[in-house]
Amino acid sequence: MSEYLEFAIQTAREAGAILRAAWDRPKEISYKGEVDIVTESDRLSEELIVERLRRKYPDHAVIAEEGSGVDSAGAKFCWHVDPLDGTTNFAHSYPCFCVSIGLAEHGRPVAAAVFNPVADEMFSAARGQGAHLNGKPIRVSANETLSTSLVATGFPTHLRKRSSNMNYYWEFTLRTHGVRRDGAAALDLCSVACGRFDAFWEFGLKSWDTCAGVLLVEEAGGKVTDLHGEPYTPGGASVMATNGRVHAEVQEVAAIAERSASRV
Ligand code: IPD
Ligand code: CA
Ligand code: CA
Repeated sequence: MSEYLEFAIQTAREAGAILRAAWDRPKEISYKGEVDIVTESDRLSEELIVERLRRKYPDHAVIAEEGSGVDSAGAKFCWHVDPLDGTTNFAHSYPCFCVSIGLAEHGRPVAAAVFNPVADEMFSAARGQGAHLNGKPIRVSANETLSTSLVATGFPTHLRKRSSNMNYYWEFTLRTHGVRRDGAAALDLCSVACGRFDAFWEFGLKSWDTCAGVLLVEEAGGKVTDLHGEPYTPGGASVMATNGRVHAEVQEVAAIAERSASRV
């Protein structure tokens, strides 16, 4: 596994350099949907990562956000690649974005590299070998209660319509130190892994958003399920990642929010 992890780290760093060089320059933005932005840097980063993966591991599958993946039916290993997580932030030169590369074996995340090139922070994990930030071990927070927690969520970038997640945002805001909406799901998960956030939840994330981050949380001692407490698989309908200690409380508040959302 360490060979795969080293490869993911090195590739995330190289792709991150592409983003680092462009993030504070004027950008050409195109739209995949009404508000779903894509930039030249998303494409260049993905091109580099997928080219490296194809060459090094020709029999592995690759699922990459901008569509240049490799369909390898029945492959044991599949790479889940977000070449630029936090594109909206990037497009506005807001320095909160990353490259996320996760490797799943039969659907289960086993290696992860998430790189924030502006902060120069490399989060990495391999199954059974712990989670690291710039080579140093990280752990989730020791916070025991939701009322003293800082939590985070996100909203889909492709919709301008009402989201029922507003009800969750509201209910958690009333019960915590605050709810952050940073705009880069992979980094949100890393922030849970290293104890900056005590919990994170979101709906509708794709496998490239979460494959690496969920492994980081688990290897840092945290817990990841869906919002009903059921096992989470990257790409599932909802994700709830916590330090473990506040997991039950987060689930209770999510149930309250779900009930109030269904009344609207
Ligand atoms: C988005 C970010 C954002 C999350 C959205 C994602 P992108 O990914 O992770 O935080 O709320 O749901 O789509 O489009 O910037 O790669
Ligand atoms: Ca993403
Ligand atoms: Ca992306």
